[in-house]
Amino acid sequence: MKILVTGGCGFIGSNFIRLVLDSRDWQVINLDALTYAGNPDNLRELENHPGYRFIKGRIEDAALVESLMGQVDSVVHFAAESHVDRSILGAGPFITTNVMGTQVLLDAFRKVGCTGKFVHVSTDEVYGSLGPSDPPFRETDNLRPNSPYSASKASSDLLCRAAWKTFKLPVVITRCSNNYGPYQFPEKLIPLMIINSLKGKKLPVYGDGRNIRDWIHVEDHCRGCLAALEKGRPGAVYNFGGNCEMQNIEIVHRILGILGMEDDRIEFVTDRPGHDRRYAMDASMARRELGWEPEKDFQQGLEETVQWYVENAWWWERIISGEYMKYYQQFPNRSKT
Ligand code: NAD
Ligand code: DAU
Repeated sequence: MKILVTGGCGFIGSNFIRLVLDSRDWQVINLDALTYAGNPDNLRELENHPGYRFIKGRIEDAALVESLMGQVDSVVHFAAESHVDRSILGAGPFITTNVMGTQVLLDAFRKVGCTGKFVHVSTDEVYGSLGPSDPPFRETDNLRPNSPYSASKASSDLLCRAAWKTFKLPVVITRCSNNYGPYQFPEKLIPLMIINSLKGKKLPVYGDGRNIRDWIHVEDHCRGCLAALEKGRPGAVYNFGGNCEMQNIEIVHRILGILGMEDDRIEFVTDRPGHDRRYAMDASMARRELGWEPEKDFQQGLEETVQWYVENAWWWERIISGEYMKYYQQFPNRSKT
């Protein structure tokens, strides 16, 4: 099998490529624009792997995308602008990448006549927010996104649905809850709290800290994406979740506990506008149809993740200093337009 992975230099995409090359005898082409969130350090050890090829370029570049699609069977689409707070500051890049870019990929997949599947990696945030006693989200729920980020992801989900309905493109949509684990960019809650703790900085908790997320280890999510590619039903949507609903403040307390630090650096700050209160996922369809289940116990996964950030300070220090950006410059831009 030959696959095109988009956004493979990001957090989840890099973990996915590592899983594929460790467990399958496949060829992987990684198309990534190397935005601020794309970090070639994430896959350094695979640079010379015979099954791996990196192409620096944008998913909105139709000519480039078509030329790459002509070389693969299937696509696993991770590339996105992924941070809610950034989407509140400016929605433009979210529409360009998440909406326009996804349509370019769908069009190229159809034009070239790829014979495999198109796995679109989406998010629980497209469903909106739950009340305290609402049942978890199901795949049949209405989409009610509340941030520019989640609205752009919901738009891309609908474009994928339309490609299946109109052209019978074999699209499989996955919607996962909050990931944590190694190589997560330090703007997201868990790495930010770990790194700020290690650097003796304040720990900014939005609002009352009681917003709830359902946490899943990135390796569990990646196994789900692989199962969706290998066993997913074209046209289907699969929810993935970690069965681990937790308030943000509890996460911060646990990180401090693991590091053996006091709570006095926690600082309650102004809430995120439109902040979703609670997410929870019903992943019974993925269990039934894909035989998928999350495996990693949260406390164990969190301890391992804290340990990873402690041991890999070089990785996040190069991000904080901006040094990782310099490494970008050696990669030629493959734009064909
Ligand atoms: P990330 O921000 O860490 O990585 C995104 C990657 O996409 C980066 O490498 C970036 O360079 C690349 N990229 C951005 N714009 C591009 C473009 N126009 N062309 C090519 N490459 C581009 O994101 P992540 O957390 O790894 O998320 C990956 C996917 O999973 C996203 O689609 C996100 O919506 C989805 N998701 C994330 C989570 C989570 O908790 N992080 C949960 C569920 C779903
Ligand atoms: O649910 C899946 C989504 O999870 C993905 O689709 C997104 O790409 C990913 O970024 C993530 O979105 P969240 O907004 O839930 O993640 P974030 O890490 O930004 O925030 C998690 C929670 O922590 C949220 O309730 C906001 C809060 N928070 C976040 C930051 C960065 C804080 O309290 N303080 C912070 O400094």
